Amino acid sequence: MEKIVVKGGTPLFGSVDISGMKNAALPIIFACVLVNGKCTIENIPRVRDVEISFQILKGMGAVVNEVSRNTYEIDCSNIKAGTSSPALVSKLRASYYLWGTEFGRFGYTKTGHPGGCNFADRPVDQHIKGFEALGGRVVSETDFVEIHRDGESKGANIYFDVVTVGGTVNVMLASVLSGGVTIIENAAREPHIVDLAIFLNRCGAKITGAGTEIIKVRGVKELHGCTHDIIPDMIEAGTFMIAAAATRGAVTVNNVIPKHMESLSAKLEEIGVTIEELDDSIRVDATGSSFRPTRIKTMPYPGFPTDMQPQMCVLLTQASGQSMITEGIYETRFRYVDDLVRMGAQIKVDTRRAIITGGTELHGADVTALDLRAGVAMVIAGLIADGETSISNIYCIERGYDDLVGKLTGLGANVFHVTVPDEAVKECAPCE
Ligand code: EPU
Repeated sequence: MEKIVVKGGTPLFGSVDISGMKNAALPIIFACVLVNGKCTIENIPRVRDVEISFQILKGMGAVVNEVSRNTYEIDCSNIKAGTSSPALVSKLRASYYLWGTEFGRFGYTKTGHPGGCNFADRPVDQHIKGFEALGGRVVSETDFVEIHRDGESKGANIYFDVVTVGGTVNVMLASVLSGGVTIIENAAREPHIVDLAIFLNRCGAKITGAGTEIIKVRGVKELHGCTHDIIPDMIEAGTFMIAAAATRGAVTVNNVIPKHMESLSAKLEEIGVTIEELDDSIRVDATGSSFRPTRIKTMPYPGFPTDMQPQMCVLLTQASGQSMITEGIYETRFRYVDDLVRMGAQIKVDTRRAIITGGTELHGADVTALDLRAGVAMVIAGLIADGETSISNIYCIERGYDDLVGKLTGLGANVFHVTVPDEAVKECAPCE
């Protein structure tokens, strides 16, 4: 198994190209199940969650061809309902998008339980509410989830009690081939919801309102293939922006949609980082900066994303004064703090809130990637620590970052993959 080793103390300089968004690619890949024909999907990130998704679909009878490094043709015309591998499904949270697509196309799905990141209890009650409203009967047993309906789904009005990305995606997928109109209220507004709607509409769907809190899906009889380009990954972009700032470097982050970065850009400017927005890139300059403390609360888009909370926490260890982060999405997403404290950070966590006393030096240590975003936060901590930081369980990081080490090396970081004996590394729980 491999670890990532970081030798800290080098500011990042140069430019980096951002990959396609993992959290847009996953629903779109599974959405191909609804399509009668071949879809060509461009700008797919080369990350492990995508690889597993392809393995799941191929096992069910899909044809997946690699056209180039980031472009794939996916043809699910001959897929068989209810045949996904429980072992593969359990490795990936997003595999629950099979519920929406199989239910939407066949009226029947049976899968193993999806993987769940171990940073929190992640309920699916809102998904179930959506399927039931669309005429589904949901059976959840220890080993499987089965959803079945008799006849055609007529569409439904669904009000989500919490804003849920996965629930919004699943209801869109489940209703796109229905015989009626479905209204989703209190829908998630994330850019990946919009990207999914654009993809489905290119295939012949009739979806309006994506990106607002009310989405309307007018059911159609059939979807046809199309070509679609996945949007840039705002979380990967934000990770590089924070890494550039934390090391007091200057980096141009290319292939981004600056609008998607507004909550982060505003926070970085507030703490003293210079941000320049260009057409499809953002320049971050923190050379000679001293950072002011701030308060952050993570919220659904367009609020500050929970998926950038651990990275931002590392940056705030370098601000002079006391900062506070309140986690508004997942109660227990501060488990990585113990490792940061071992590196020299002063952070106190009280359930959903972390108080960070900044201005501390960080020192290299052996730390663990507890999940995807916590793992990359450890890499950023390593970049600003003195000495060497060794990060284990990097499987978690590879789930969602395309060539992280290569991209950081291109910015001048001293970061390496090293191979260690298997027994020295704990297997990480599935996350995304
Ligand atoms: N929730 C419920 N009931 C439900 C569904 C969700 O109570 O039926 C709650 C969750 O417990 C959570 C909140 O609603 O408190 C939001 O959860 P959501 O459903 O939006 O999360 P998700 O769809 O499971 C996606 C991303 C996560 C990201 C969250 C929040 C994908 C594949 N995953 O998860 O990404 O943290 O939205 O933005 O899109 C990551 O990429 O590192 C990652 C964890």
